[in-house]
Amino acid sequence: MSIFQIKSVDEIMAESGEKGHKLVRVLGAFDVTMIGIGAIIGAGIFAMVGEAAVGASSGHPAGPALIISFVLTGIACGFTALCYAELAAMVPISGSAYTYAYATMGELVAWIIGWDLIIEYAIGNVAVAISWAGYFNDFLNSAFGINIPLWLRLDYRTFVQKGFDLAAAPHVLGVPVVFNLPAVLIVLAITAILIVGIRKSSRFNDFLVLIKLAVLALFVGVGFYYFKLENWIPFAPGGWKGIQVGAATIFFAYIGFDAVSTVAEETRNPKRDMPIGIMGSLVISTLIYILVTVALTGMMPFIELKNKIAEPLIAGLDYNHAATWIIVIVSLGSVVAHTAVLLVFQMGQPRIFFSMSRDGLLPSYFARVHKKFKTPHVTTIWTGVFVAVLSAFCNIDEMANLCNVGTLFAFVLVCLGVIILRVKDPDRHRPFRAPGGFVTPVLGIAFCLFLMQGLDKVTWVRFFGWLAIGLVIYFFYGYKHSRLRTGDLLLK
Ligand code: ALA
Repeated sequence: MSIFQIKSVDEIMAESGEKGHKLVRVLGAFDVTMIGIGAIIGAGIFAMVGEAAVGASSGHPAGPALIISFVLTGIACGFTALCYAELAAMVPISGSAYTYAYATMGELVAWIIGWDLIIEYAIGNVAVAISWAGYFNDFLNSAFGINIPLWLRLDYRTFVQKGFDLAAAPHVLGVPVVFNLPAVLIVLAITAILIVGIRKSSRFNDFLVLIKLAVLALFVGVGFYYFKLENWIPFAPGGWKGIQVGAATIFFAYIGFDAVSTVAEETRNPKRDMPIGIMGSLVISTLIYILVTVALTGMMPFIELKNKIAEPLIAGLDYNHAATWIIVIVSLGSVVAHTAVLLVFQMGQPRIFFSMSRDGLLPSYFARVHKKFKTPHVTTIWTGVFVAVLSAFCNIDEMANLCNVGTLFAFVLVCLGVIILRVKDPDRHRPFRAPGGFVTPVLGIAFCLFLMQGLDKVTWVRFFGWLAIGLVIYFFYGYKHSRLRTGDLLLK
């Protein structure tokens, strides 16, 4: 049987009902929408808008026109989100893009995309965990005047690059000890919550999302209070180019609506709730991003953001001499927002591994469901360990860039999957159909390719290196054990 063998949608659905490999359906439309918002609003809006507005490293500032960048990227992600919604409602399986690829482009592409999704979820989470550690320290500092020692909250390379003194770090057998302890601890804590149950994790997520929305509402209120129209002149200092570069920079802020599809198998009525969760969380987050950007760019001349580029919202508050309690609340809100992103991504990754293992492409050990908690605990633990170890030692920008390329690649294949399935299986019932015929997926692909073009060379090299390792594993393991090709998959 060929490596391009396709698994039919019926086979995929039958397999998900097998004993011992079955997840429980407990989530509703509200839960999945909150999961989407949990995954979307995080480091992007709390940290990356500073660089996008000022353009410090690109030389192309978006300025107040960052509002337009947010609208553009929001619309562009909307095309992909519609495609995800169509597939998630039709094939409500925890593997997300991996599963859709299996049903449309065959096993090899499915493996590649499953392997690629590790970059989106696990590597993305490494970036968010590192950013979390930075904000956690800021919060401790603004609220209690405490600072975690640098050698205990930075990776080795960043420590050296920033010129900190290695002699100040403790040494073991002559080797300086420098690692990011808060990042490791938050990842391990989240892993523990996720093992206990999706229902509890989803409740915890609701709580985090409500806090982050309240904090952003407070920020928008304060921003509008200090709003001055002259801060919007000039509106687009970097012209069209600034708006375009800004749109690419803030793409990271939108990643996460697709994570909703990884809990499709635990959703009571996925046909209805998947499209609501995916589209709903994207629309709500876009509106919030626009309000926050209007407030931020109206409360200060954008160029002043350069003083505190990684903490733009705090920079806005500082500029206007806002009360200390507001600054403490906003920095706490940022920690909470990061935590929710970590939670959902850390929830998504094991579910993709779980699907791959159930298909025989990874050892069946990974597809075990915990007897009491009914969660994919083995993959949850392995994901936790992998992310924790990397976040102790890796650099944030490299991880965020890798996450962007991996995500865009997955988006392209999902849009392509919609086109293929519509051509090959036009009569299958689609509980939700992306409007506009082929225009929607084609525009989704075009936009993603456009953004991918802007990524640097090193990121591409790392991306292809990762895919090459994945191919080796496939040919040594998955190729021989695939349940589809060994005929172990019995269609009921
Ligand atoms: N969209 C997520 C964030 O901004 C990844 O943190």
